Amino acid sequence: MSDPLLFTPGPLTTSAKVKAAMQRDVGSRDSEFIGIVAEIRSELLRIGGVSKEAGYEAVPMQGSGTFAIEAVLSSVIPPDGRLLVLANGAYGERIRQIAERLKIAVSINRWPEDESPNVVTVWRLLRQQPRPTHVAIVHLETTTGILNPIDEIGAVVREHGCRFIVDAMSSFGGVALDLAALPVDYLVSSANKCLEGVPGFSFVITRRGALQESAGWARSVSLDLLAQFEALESNGQFRFTPPTHALLAFAQALAELREEGGVPARAERFRRNREALLPGMRQLGFREYLKPECQSDIITSFRFPEDAAFEFAKFYRRLAERGFVIYPGKVSHADCFRIGTIGRLSVGDVNGLIAAIERVLTEMNVQRVS
Ligand SMILES: Cc1ncc(COP(=O)(O)O)c(C=O)c1O
Repeated sequence: MSDPLLFTPGPLTTSAKVKAAMQRDVGSRDSEFIGIVAEIRSELLRIGGVSKEAGYEAVPMQGSGTFAIEAVLSSVIPPDGRLLVLANGAYGERIRQIAERLKIAVSINRWPEDESPNVVTVWRLLRQQPRPTHVAIVHLETTTGILNPIDEIGAVVREHGCRFIVDAMSSFGGVALDLAALPVDYLVSSANKCLEGVPGFSFVITRRGALQESAGWARSVSLDLLAQFEALESNGQFRFTPPTHALLAFAQALAELREEGGVPARAERFRRNREALLPGMRQLGFREYLKPECQSDIITSFRFPEDAAFEFAKFYRRLAERGFVIYPGKVSHADCFRIGTIGRLSVGDVNGLIAAIERVLTEMNVQRVS
């Protein structure tokens, strides 16, 4: 039986060549592997629209995306620093949770899950005493699929002299982003989202100056971002065992991104996928949770139908049996499920999913309200 198609925010459907690239064993201290890691680091900067010469560095970190978020928070905030988290979903809440566990002075400002942080409020928050030294936000809140305006908010953060931390886990590589034009000091993402690699590592794209100012602040050995950077710079190697197979797969995934035409072409494929998804879902009676103007093309939250015959667990299972894996909801106050439109998926795959949803609704006797 072939693998199901993953309509999720990651790990997601990867190409046959990405999976095949892992069919090798390479030495982590071998020059071939060191060359691959160096190339990956340069390519990540290119994707972000920046370069080493312009003062940026890409630092890969073992572990899933949360590990790189924790690496940034535990490494770059000084002992007397203060973090302000701007949150409109579960991943903003996770940033607060990590900071609290690390005993960092943190405050959180929450917006409704269907609204982005408002720049005027942020401006006011940044003037309150004691002033924050660092501000963190999620670019694309995967809880709902909302895209937050990091450009406007970043400008206000910069105006107040704070460092800006951006969780771009589910946007980097799938949403056009020019880091050279954005006041972002630390951007975090991972291998298995829009870049279509496999899970195993995450990475931080950072201004070298912002990273180097953090000497002596790290609260962890394995997640010490500056130490990781310094090791990679000194001998090209990870400090501790790297996920060699995941990095080989990632090198192939980056080659496929280039072949596709880079981030603009990939963003366009994701846009077409979502454009195919919406009318199909609406015709079946589903309604999106977010207003169209704040919705991204990466993942969409749909409200449960009002019909009592709709049972999410059964709906999910029956779709999975047909080879389509969707994603449960994460919105805190509304019953929703989510459908991701990223990964090696095409409009044909989306149409296949809609046809399967239609059959499952009929089997479950769910009334359609159009
Ligand atoms: C916006 C965002 N931040 C953080 C994470 C956490 O990443 P991971 O599950 O790879 O640790 C995710 C995962 O989906 C995410 O979407």
